[in-house]
Amino acid sequence: MKVTVSRKSHFNAAHRLYNADWSDARNATVFGKCSNPNYHGHNYELIVSVKGEIHPETGFVMDMKILKDLISIEIEEKFDHKNLNEEVEVFKTLNPTAENIVVVIWNQLRTKIDESLELSVTLYETPRNFVSYSGE
Ligand code: NI
Repeated sequence: MKVTVSRKSHFNAAHRLYNADWSDARNATVFGKCSNPNYHGHNYELIVSVKGEIHPETGFVMDMKILKDLISIEIEEKFDHKNLNEEVEVFKTLNPTAENIVVVIWNQLRTKIDESLELSVTLYETPRNFVSYSGE
């Protein structure tokens, strides 16, 4: 029997979608307003889900306090109120689309969560646009 436990989180960040190999005109065509050279911000909402067996002694799949602290240290402190392109090392060379951000977050958390637990991350870039990644 496996149960999924989830924790919601939040961060504000600025970004610009941009392919350095392309002209400004092509970037503007493909990415539209999201390629504004002066950046723009999003209120990102994050849902981190962990799936596994209930531990017989604690009754927990994972201690939510530990998951909360992990998201705070590994994600919120690194991304919140940052310019992703300029202040988060990986996005200096990786376009900070929602797709790429969710993979970066998953990779970051995966190394810190017990291997016996399945990890899935959903990232809302707007209330209507969201992406999910579970390591496939
Ligand atoms: Ni954007």
